[in-house]
Amino acid sequence: PDGSGQRRFDELIAADQRIEPSDWMPAAYRKTLVRQISQHAHSEIIGMQPEGNWITRAPSLKRKSILMAKVQDEAGHGLYLYSAAQTLGTDRDTMFEQLITGTAKYSSIFNYTTPTWADMGSIGWLVDGAAICNQVPLCRASYGPYGRAMVRICKEESFHQRQGFEILLELMRGTPAQQQMAQESVNRWYAPALMMFGPPDADSPNSQQSMAWNIKRFSNDELRQRFVDMLVPQAEILGVTLPDPDLKWNEERGHYDFGELDWAEFAEVLAGRGPANAIRVARRRAAHEDGEWVRAAARAYADKQAELASA
Ligand code: 3HC
Repeated sequence: PDGSGQRRFDELIAADQRIEPSDWMPAAYRKTLVRQISQHAHSEIIGMQPEGNWITRAPSLKRKSILMAKVQDEAGHGLYLYSAAQTLGTDRDTMFEQLITGTAKYSSIFNYTTPTWADMGSIGWLVDGAAICNQVPLCRASYGPYGRAMVRICKEESFHQRQGFEILLELMRGTPAQQQMAQESVNRWYAPALMMFGPPDADSPNSQQSMAWNIKRFSNDELRQRFVDMLVPQAEILGVTLPDPDLKWNEERGHYDFGELDWAEFAEVLAGRGPANAIRVARRRAAHEDGEWVRAAARAYADKQAELASA
């Protein structure tokens, strides 16, 4: 009430220091963090599905064990992030409820389907590549539990990105049919991966405030540019073509120029009308309902322990 909380918060932000759960923070800062961290957690959990789809069909035992480990990492990231969001006073049941009723947002990218094995390569190379580009700066996010969670997550994402690149590399060194499968997959995932960074800066309502609070360190467009610049030389090594006729080096800017993305498609996906939104949410809800017996057993056990303790 005397404004000292706000003053202390402003000082910490100005000095680029961390805000911890027990510190005073503006309600809007708390709210935007819950929004971003819970959306991020949901993305990791829903993100298990497109790849989970290939675990039983991975082409070798080695590929299967790598894919299982990767999907398991994503579950871990999700739980880690739910914990970070909980430190802000939002409980996990509420977040789960929002996810399974389709009211929570999660990354647009996981609403695309994975019809071929090469999609496991594209997800690793492009989707996890974009995730790293976006998330490395989040390791310095002003909210302590979020920034610290990001450090470990980014390390694991680097491994995910490399395994995807390696799947594509192997396909590109294979038969013409395998090369074609890799290229076809890259054609489908390239633009949606660029959209992961969010709307253009002019249409990003949250960016300015999030940057002022040191949650975001770069704008959506800055990170998208960084990602494109990083992809071009990697695509050359792979021997795949990035599906954008407007992609070309701009000597003056020192960056690659690239074509306009289909923001109408992005809006459709965010509105729940992407290729797989309905399947993803239904699957998550079914998994939650199937797990009811575990929660019931845990409650019964806790009740029994409490009864014993009071006896
Ligand atoms: N998919 C779905 N929604 C998106 C989106 C996307 N790709 N990009 C933006 N949005 C939403 C925002 O959440 C916001 O919605 P809201 O106001 O209703 O919450 C709205 O569109 C406007 O966008 P803004 O740019 O104003 O929003 P932000 O400032 O929050 O920026 C962001 C968006 C860059 C995605 C930021 O939230 C962020 O950096 N989040 C953390 C990273 C993250 O969530 N990654 C998830 C995918 S990667 C992953 O999960 C790893 C994989 O290996 C499983």
